[in-house]
Amino acid sequence: MNTASRAILLVALLFGVTGIAVSARQAGPAAGAAENPPMAEDVFKNVLVLKGIPVDEFLDTMGMFAAATAKDCTGCHSPQILDGRPEAFAIATPMIQKARFMIGMMNAINRNYFGGQKRVSCATCHSNTSAPENVPNLAIQYGNPLENPDSMEFVVATGSNPSQIEQVFAKYLDALGGAQRLAGVTSFTATGTYAGWDTGLSQVPVDIYARAPEQLTTVAHRTEGDSVWAYDGRNGWQVTVNAAVPFTVPLTSGNLAGARLDAMVALAPTSIRQAFSKWEISKGVLDDDRPVQILRGANEGQPPVNFYFDNSGLLVRLLRWNVTAVGPVATQYDYSDYREVGGVRRPFRWVRRSTANEVTVVLKEIRPNVAIDAARFAKPTTTRLIR
Ligand code: HEC
Ligand code: HEC
Repeated sequence: MNTASRAILLVALLFGVTGIAVSARQAGPAAGAAENPPMAEDVFKNVLVLKGIPVDEFLDTMGMFAAATAKDCTGCHSPQILDGRPEAFAIATPMIQKARFMIGMMNAINRNYFGGQKRVSCATCHSNTSAPENVPNLAIQYGNPLENPDSMEFVVATGSNPSQIEQVFAKYLDALGGAQRLAGVTSFTATGTYAGWDTGLSQVPVDIYARAPEQLTTVAHRTEGDSVWAYDGRNGWQVTVNAAVPFTVPLTSGNLAGARLDAMVALAPTSIRQAFSKWEISKGVLDDDRPVQILRGANEGQPPVNFYFDNSGLLVRLLRWNVTAVGPVATQYDYSDYREVGGVRRPFRWVRRSTANEVTVVLKEIRPNVAIDAARFAKPTTTRLIR
């Protein structure tokens, strides 16, 4: 299925829900209180295999399924999900049975042949097709070798040394306006547009709130209600107008670390260097032939994060992963249109890609150093609209 028809199906699916809206009002535990995230089987009705994993990871797993097998949600789930009833996701189908069977097969391969490491994922065999090839492709064998700058495998640049890593950071902070000016901005609000599969690719208003050291909230005002992503400096949540998950989802593991990183990139790029205990450097070329220097930050026990800097020293791509029960899935940001606001350069446009959505955010205005109510960064709640 091509991207356009897949987008249309997803849009149809997501637009099926008009009865749910969300607001960023404070609710639940006080900001900063550690939360126990609900497990998939606590909130969904018919989870037989993927038990004991948090809801955000469960959704990333569905993203892996869809991306690896080139199916959209209706490729496995009953078409009744298009009516916007969350219960319809629990309806058993032959394809769901097949997918459950595949999870068992994959786990057995990893257990028996890879010492229990999650080396083989759905993507290993499927590679974006529902029917994996078992014949080598001569066109690929004799075509130009494909270099993938976004691979999770990282090839450290030969002859690289730690001082090069420091140089990339220094150039980045200089290109943004310098550490001193960056420190002078402790908050901002921004307005612009948001367009993704969830909006039928049409632009809707977006509001962004950022406060030092690392709080960030994004509110996309969809016609059906608001979708909110919030990070309060310790906990993160997302609540989107979505048939499958009409409730607030706490972020965990790679998604939570990612939310913190989003806040740092937005407001505190000076703290990125210290956020990782290990750094490596590599080189690559983006699809548009732009050469980049790639820094990889890693912390023990967490998936790594790649930062791509172009010749001007600016951050043009950020790539991070969340590890799921069936293999890692990526989230990628492509930043562009850097403009100066209050002495500091910031991206006015970015594309965020994950297995769940492709979103383009274009800012119209950034207002630095404005007071922002703490409740903006607190746990967002869902409210059902009366139709
Ligand atoms: C390749 C097949 C496949 C695709 C594609 C797929 N799913 Fe699933 N889905 C499953 C399987 C299998 C389960 C049951 C998991 C289990 O039993 O542990 C499931 C369960 C679910 C559930 C739990 C339903 C309940 O109440 O028990 C939700 C919600 C869900 N999927 C959402 C989605 C969304 C959203 C998409 C599209 C992004 C999607 N799925 C794409 C195979 C798929
Ligand atoms: C070791 C390789 C391998 C792995 C790993 C693997 N699959 Fe498969 N899968 C296959 C093959 C081969 C087929 C095609 C079987 C056939 O032709 O009947 C298939 C078929 C399927 C189908 C049926 C597709 C259709 O349209 O009929 C689904 C759904 C599926 N796989 C889901 C998954 C999921 C989800 C995972 C990860 C949990 C996964 N597979 C992991 C090899 C694999």
